[in-house]
Order: sequence, then structure tokens, then C-alpha cells
Amino acid sequence: MEQMLAARLHVPSRTLRIEEVAKPAPGPGQVLVKVEAAGVCLSDVHLIDGTLTPLLLPGDTVTLGHEVSGTVAETGPGVTRWTPGQRVVLYAGEVRDGVTYTRGVDYDGGWAEYALSAEDALVELPDAIPFDQGAIIPDAVSTPWGAITVTGAVRPAESVGVWGAGGLGVHAVQLLRTVGACPIVVVDPNPTARERALARGADLALDPADPRLGERIGAATGGAGLAAAFDFAGVPAVRAQALSVLAPQGRLVLVGLTDQPLTVADGTRFSYLQQRILGHYGSDMPVALPQLLSLLQGGRLDFSGSISGELPLERAAEAVRRLEDKTGDPIRIVLRP
Ligand SMILES: NC(=O)c1ccc[n+]([C@@H]2O[C@H](COP(=O)([O-])OP(=O)(O)OC[C@H]3O[C@@H](n4cnc5c(N)ncnc54)[C@H](O)[C@@H]3O)[C@@H](O)[C@H]2O)c1
Repeated sequence: MEQMLAARLHVPSRTLRIEEVAKPAPGPGQVLVKVEAAGVCLSDVHLIDGTLTPLLLPGDTVTLGHEVSGTVAETGPGVTRWTPGQRVVLYAGEVRDGVTYTRGVDYDGGWAEYALSAEDALVELPDAIPFDQGAIIPDAVSTPWGAITVTGAVRPAESVGVWGAGGLGVHAVQLLRTVGACPIVVVDPNPTARERALARGADLALDPADPRLGERIGAATGGAGLAAAFDFAGVPAVRAQALSVLAPQGRLVLVGLTDQPLTVADGTRFSYLQQRILGHYGSDMPVALPQLLSLLQGGRLDFSGSISGELPLERAAEAVRRLEDKTGDPIRIVLRP
């Protein structure tokens, strides 16, 4: 049987290993993709450090990687819409019997030489878009896009706060510019992340430790506070801080993941101001991916500055460490099998 390399997480011991495994064969309705690029996300760090646990994984080991692009290598029986050699981006999840399964979490992902996909969980990647930029779209770009356009339903000229300008948050800034949010306020303890956010279109970038943060956001919003705030950090302190500067009827959208409890310090104030807290997960891939690819092709978006480095698949653990320690302040590191 043909073998391939894969970076696999043994969930009970949280051990990541590069292993030789059987190269998968596409079944009916499936496509085998030769992986060209696969992004490393903070959710991968969380899976390895134990703060995120797969809920639907049948066994105890999974190939990581939910941000994947590549070329069609083989098609399974009955597949007519894909042919070998086509450039594709894989959805970061698949809906089966009404349940959402996340790639690289609940089933094998793309930190491998090859990855399987359902034939309806792929989108064609235009020739003009490089594989590395294509790979990061299904999560680092489409998750904030879904959070902004659907869950947060940001309208033109609304004031918006972005907590955490890392892989997801920095793209949120670009996407908020595209939908006309104003002003866009970024909060991040990392000075490089703040500078980068300003360069990509944020109007104001603040340190969460700034004692005058509330005052500064008040001044930027004419005293009203933020109409919408997004947690792209997954840090409990963010939620309390964002709520403290949210406008009446404002909404706080939780994209960042944490296993810590969600608390509202003053429930009466929250109800009186009729605020809302909304959970967000992923995006509606069949809608979001074509929209984003079209905006990229049309020159409305550019993610060329988002690829902070490329490493061979064998160095997956190093890529994870670099994202965790913020070595070189990466936006996205991409693995190349
Ligand atoms: N809900 C979803 O569908 C979904 C999808 C992908 C990732 N995530 C989660 O989103 C979060 C961000 O992922 P990422 O890959 O962009 O991570 P990242 O590490 O690239 O970025 C996180 C940023 O948060 C900043 N930060 C840390 N503490 C902060 C604080 N107190 N206030 C403001 N900012 C702070 C960091 O400096 C960093 O710039 C993670 O929790 C990840 O698990 C959620």
C-alpha cells in the first residue's frame, strides 16, 4: 500500500508526531487532493495544549490542518465535477446529517501529503491566487468574514472594536474596511500586531493595559461606545473589557475560543443596555469562499502580506511553537508537504 507523511495528534496524550500512514483512496463522491499548502492556526495550538478537544472524532488520533489548498490528484467513483490537476481550496468543515464536522479536528486534515474531501466541500482556486493565500482563506479569512457579515451583521459606518489582531483579527480589519465600518478600533497587547493593524486600515490601535482605553474609545465614537466588538483573541479578560466599552444595544461576538467560563460582571447593566453576546464558529463555506475569492480576484482584498513563513511538513511542531510563542510575530505560517 502506498504511504504518505502526515502530522498526527494523539489526543489523549496531546502528542504531535510525523508519521507514515496509508495514502487514502477516494471513495464514492470523494476527491483526493495533493496538498500544496496548509495553514497553522491558534486552534491547532489549543488542540495540542489540551484547551480544545475534538467532539466528533471517532478514534483517538487525527491529522491536523483545517486550512488547506492543493491540486486534485484522484477522483472517486461517481465524481464528475472535478478532474485531476485542478487547483482547489478545501472547506474547513463538512456538514454530515446536519452536524458540522471540522477538518483536522473531527476528521483527518491537511497537514499531510494528501487529504480527502467530499466532492461538494471544495472550491476552485483561480490561477492568479497562490496556494499559500488560498490555504488561509477557509479559516483565517472566512471565519472573520462570517463573524462580521453574518453573526455580527456589521453595517456601513458602524463603530467596531477588534480584540486580538493576530491571524484572524488582522484580516478582520481588512474585511471591516471592505464593508465600510468606521471607526475600526483594534486592541492588542503586542505592539507589532497593533502597527500591522494600523497599516491594514485600523483607525486606532490600543494596548488592553492602557488605563485610558475606555476614554480613548469614547472619544473615537463620539461618546457612544462600540456598536460591535469582536473577540479574536480567546482570552477571558477580553470579554469584560469589550463589554465595558460597548454601546447600548451593542453586540459582542465571540470568535476566540477558551474553555474558561463566560461571565457578565453586571447583569442589570447588560440587560438595561439591551446588549447581546453572540457565539460564532467558522463560516458558511459555500457562500463565504466564492465571495472572498471574488473580492481577492477583483483586487478589493490582498493577503500577500499574511504569509509570515513557510516550513516543510516535517517541521510542523516548530511552526506550532512559533505561533504559540509569537516568534517573529507571525500572522500565518504555512506548511508545505
Ligand atoms: N470560532 C471559530 O470559528 C474560530 C476559528 C479559528 C480560530 N478561532 C480562535 O480564534 C482565536 C484567534 O486565533 P488566531 O489564529 O488569530 O490567533 P493568533 O495567536 O494569531 O492571534 C491572537 C491575538 O490575540 C492577541 N491577544 C492576546 N491577549 C489579548 C488581550 N488581552 N486583548 C487583546 N488581544 C489579545 C495576541 O497578541 C494575538 O495578536 C483563537 O482563540 C482561536 O482558537 C476560532
